[in-house]
Amino acid sequence: MNSIINENMQWIDKVWNNLDSKLRIVARRSFDKLPYTTIDGVHDNKHDTEPDWWTNGFWGGMMWLMYAETGNEVYKMTAMRSEELIGDALKDFKKLHHDVGFMWHILSGANYRLTGNTRSCNLNLYMAAMLFSRFNVDGDYIRAWNVCPELAGWTIIDCMMNIPLLYWASEEIGDDRFKKIAMRHADMAMRDHIRSDGSVNHIVEHNPETGEVIKVHSGQGYSETSCWTRGSAWAIYGFVLSYIHTGKIDYLNTARKAADYFISNCANFDFMTPIDFCAPPEPLYYDSTAGVCAACGMIEIAGCLSEEDGLKYMEAAIKILKATDSRFCNYGKDEDSIVQMGSERYPVNGDMSGVHIPIIYGDFFFAEAILKLKGSKFLIW
Ligand code: GLY
Repeated sequence: MNSIINENMQWIDKVWNNLDSKLRIVARRSFDKLPYTTIDGVHDNKHDTEPDWWTNGFWGGMMWLMYAETGNEVYKMTAMRSEELIGDALKDFKKLHHDVGFMWHILSGANYRLTGNTRSCNLNLYMAAMLFSRFNVDGDYIRAWNVCPELAGWTIIDCMMNIPLLYWASEEIGDDRFKKIAMRHADMAMRDHIRSDGSVNHIVEHNPETGEVIKVHSGQGYSETSCWTRGSAWAIYGFVLSYIHTGKIDYLNTARKAADYFISNCANFDFMTPIDFCAPPEPLYYDSTAGVCAACGMIEIAGCLSEEDGLKYMEAAIKILKATDSRFCNYGKDEDSIVQMGSERYPVNGDMSGVHIPIIYGDFFFAEAILKLKGSKFLIW
């Protein structure tokens, strides 16, 4: 693996310098915010509108990634401020859902692992208990959302990125219960969300009394039989993380299968990820966030394999990241976001809101991927 990294080191260093020099300025500017996207180049602030929004951990999480690499106190201070601000989400238990992993594990969990902060450790353990409590013992899955009884049987592939919180909790308190629940959920996702060709069902509805699959819903992709690329990315990265935390080889094989599908399809788009691999060719809508998240997973997959077997995944990750860097990145210091052209979902009835916008987790996963290539050993998940 070293040779492909070495060949690309100049480019990796250049991108890293662009990231660090922009983010150390934006860290100060957005100190008091929980950003989601930008308005006229300026970060918005979900703290004022939706403190329980599922992406509210990513800004502070990215600050911890940057702090882990640089030791720069600006990043640490902004990350800690972010943890204070997200605290408002705790005011209403009923609004909390399975995304407590996205929200706290990369924020409070990272704080504890990097600084030893015991308050953050406790908070992250409470969140693990909260996620654990969403397990449906009859259906064998972690329930995604609240809202109404009709959603009691719904699971979404995204949850694969929340369960590392449970693996961590088991390690932290020396008790396998959390890990076992996470593995039961991952086993369900392997069976019910991953299709035979390696593409992914976004939402699966189960009978909450038996776990039996009732129906597949389309979610944020083009249709229920198409392939929403961010769902694939959650599967690629989520399954390799489950392998790293448990050693269960089926999870690594599943991550590879999802990555193989992603790579062969993404090649048709010059490694600039569309929102859905199976959508009509025109108009073409991109989702840069899917590419950078998938790249993180591919780099981890490569690290779990021999140099020969891993090369394909590392090469694809680098191609995606280079396409992102050259086509989608804004390193200008007057604007707050870096990765442009993210998309929340495939547009419904021509509604383009949330399509081709910067989204905070695009910046997070791009920075995380570049740090992995740079050799960072801090696995935030
Ligand atoms: N987890 C929701 C999304 O990926 O948009």
